[in-house]
Amino acid sequence: MFITFEGPEGCGKSTHSQLLKTYLENKGLVVVQTREPGGTPLGVKLRAILLEKSGPIDQLAEASLFFADRAEHVAGVILPALKSGKCVICDRFLDSTLAYQIGGRGLPEDLIRFMNMEASFGVRPDLTFLLDIPPEVGLERAKNKGAADRFEREGMAFHTRVREKYLALAADDPERIKLFPFENLPIDLVQTKIRSIVDEKFGN
Ligand code: TYD
Repeated sequence: MFITFEGPEGCGKSTHSQLLKTYLENKGLVVVQTREPGGTPLGVKLRAILLEKSGPIDQLAEASLFFADRAEHVAGVILPALKSGKCVICDRFLDSTLAYQIGGRGLPEDLIRFMNMEASFGVRPDLTFLLDIPPEVGLERAKNKGAADRFEREGMAFHTRVREKYLALAADDPERIKLFPFENLPIDLVQTKIRSIVDEKFGN
């Protein structure tokens, strides 16, 4: 069982992945909760570079660092966990790269899709929760959590393109990507929906 959480800045994905982890563990499953970038020792270093508060990074260099993070993460953490029958919950994965590097940065779709495939060794999530949020709301939430990182400092146009790309991805693959439109619902209500989709999908 490989589940990913996706969405623009401040969408609440880490809260929901943590709550889902607890739910699945209470059912007796062994859960590995992880994130990108930063799910391995190498990834922690790459994350620090990628989110550094100042200094531009060339966008192809940036994409390459995300792929380096992903290859290390899939090979070292995700694949071994899935092979040993564990459930993996990951904050951000392939769809983040599509939304941010294609949608946000404007890098070529075929290049990013090809590299996504290579860097993930063909591993695909069974289920993805996309928590939508308008950029002005999400960025405000993110701001309350501390100093803005390199992505949070991007302009509104960038974040709007990221959000639109996410919505297009969900429209293309509704079977895998479960879209939660922004409704400002209480956390427990959203989490109840997430749990029922997981139960339905995995039959327990
Ligand atoms: P995130 O882990 O969501 O940070 P926070 O802890 O502040 O919520 O942020 C990681 C950032 O990296 C986020 O802005 C999206 C970006 N990102 C990409 O641009 N491409 C990718 O492939 C991934 C995984 C993340």
